[in-house]
Amino acid sequence: MKTIIEPFKIKSVEPIRMTARPERERILAEAGYNLFLVRAEDVLIDLLTDSGTNSMSSEQWAAMMRGDESYAGARSFFRFEAEVRRITGFKHVIPTHQGRAAEKIIFNVLHRPDAVYLGNTHFDTTRANIEYLKNTAVDLPIAEGIVPAKIHPFKGNVDLARLAEELKRLRGRVRAVIMTVTNNSGGGQPVSMANLREASKLAHEHGALLILDACRFAENAYFIKLREPGYAQKSVLEIAREMFGYADASTMSAKKDGLANIGGFLACHDDEIAAQSRNLLILTEGFPTYGGLAGRDLEAIAQGLREVLEEDYLRYRLRSVEYFCEKLQAEQVPLILPAGGHAVFLDAGAFLPHIPPAQFPGQALANELYVAGGIRGVEIGSVMFGGTDPATGGTRHPPMELVRLAIPRRVYTQSHVDYAAEVIVEVFRKREALRGLKITYEAPFLRHFTARFAPC
Ligand code: F0G
Repeated sequence: MKTIIEPFKIKSVEPIRMTARPERERILAEAGYNLFLVRAEDVLIDLLTDSGTNSMSSEQWAAMMRGDESYAGARSFFRFEAEVRRITGFKHVIPTHQGRAAEKIIFNVLHRPDAVYLGNTHFDTTRANIEYLKNTAVDLPIAEGIVPAKIHPFKGNVDLARLAEELKRLRGRVRAVIMTVTNNSGGGQPVSMANLREASKLAHEHGALLILDACRFAENAYFIKLREPGYAQKSVLEIAREMFGYADASTMSAKKDGLANIGGFLACHDDEIAAQSRNLLILTEGFPTYGGLAGRDLEAIAQGLREVLEEDYLRYRLRSVEYFCEKLQAEQVPLILPAGGHAVFLDAGAFLPHIPPAQFPGQALANELYVAGGIRGVEIGSVMFGGTDPATGGTRHPPMELVRLAIPRRVYTQSHVDYAAEVIVEVFRKREALRGLKITYEAPFLRHFTARFAPC
């Protein structure tokens, strides 16, 4: 059969509160034109993030009841550790309350006054944690990776020539090459095994570590299976193991491919890095066998990590994002192609060419999708990554102005996607009427979460 169905049925449902346009206009104005400040109850279809918004399976809920809430040495930790080890092969597994806690720890451990990190594209919390320590993060995506309409099977790849150049030029200052799989900020695009292998080799030749930001490792592994020669016959687990095999350490937010609502980990081979990391963990997260999580959370993640590698699930997952993209493509809506693993990325720069980056076309588009249809996406452009460059003091604008519509795992059905596509197409038809925004308040870092705006 051609139709790829959801490989599950629904046992528990959560009602959506219906709202109308005038109500949403008022709500958005009260929220300072920032969708992060809108209540979830006031959203019809919430595509703000795929992080922590997953539906858990009946097996995960059952596992939660088996959670061992002992402070030290809980059974749930050992189940979690065994599962992470089975997939990643790392010797040390350190639980954290979410991905950024693992990032904060590893970048503190690796800190040197002039440290530089190179990668395919650092996610916003990764970059912020590096810059908070007055270190430098440099994105080196391949040229195809920053052209939204360009088709390439592995748009998440790092530019190996530039990586080699920078590693040489910065002699010894590069502490790690960070490969984010899939490349979230660049469109949820996968990294090929060949690229990962070569990046790892280059890093090691120059005395740097290879760190895998593994939030969406299973989606990336399935793309490799579908697209990279030599991998079609391998299991997703085997592919994932090979990916982790090129890394010295990994940070992971289990809120994505852990199929859980909270949690994460830092994992590595090196005993000294692990010892220092555990010391920092105890300071802010908790004892090393729970790391800020309840025993039941560790159980949910351990079970989620099994389910996320099921091929029926991954086939449905990638197909549902592709289906959403196809509906928009058919109406010439500008977007990142090919479809990514966890989200649809609208090219707000091409959608709204009359709004300059300084007036935040992505924010304007995201806001209009909310007003028109109650859909909440997120701007990934000059609001999230713009602002003052800590190195030069000038204003920086990222290469793309995007709106990400992230698909929570196992949450929405095909008719939700059909509705969302209809809203986007409707807004596209009336795009010339949209206006830009100006910022009236911003925080010194990660400004997109709390900024307030006014229409231009
Ligand atoms: N790395 C990547 C690639 C991410 O996408 C995220 C989170 C993190 C690290 C941090 O993990 O949220 O558990 O602390 N991304 C979410 C998103 C927030 O919406 O894309 P966290």
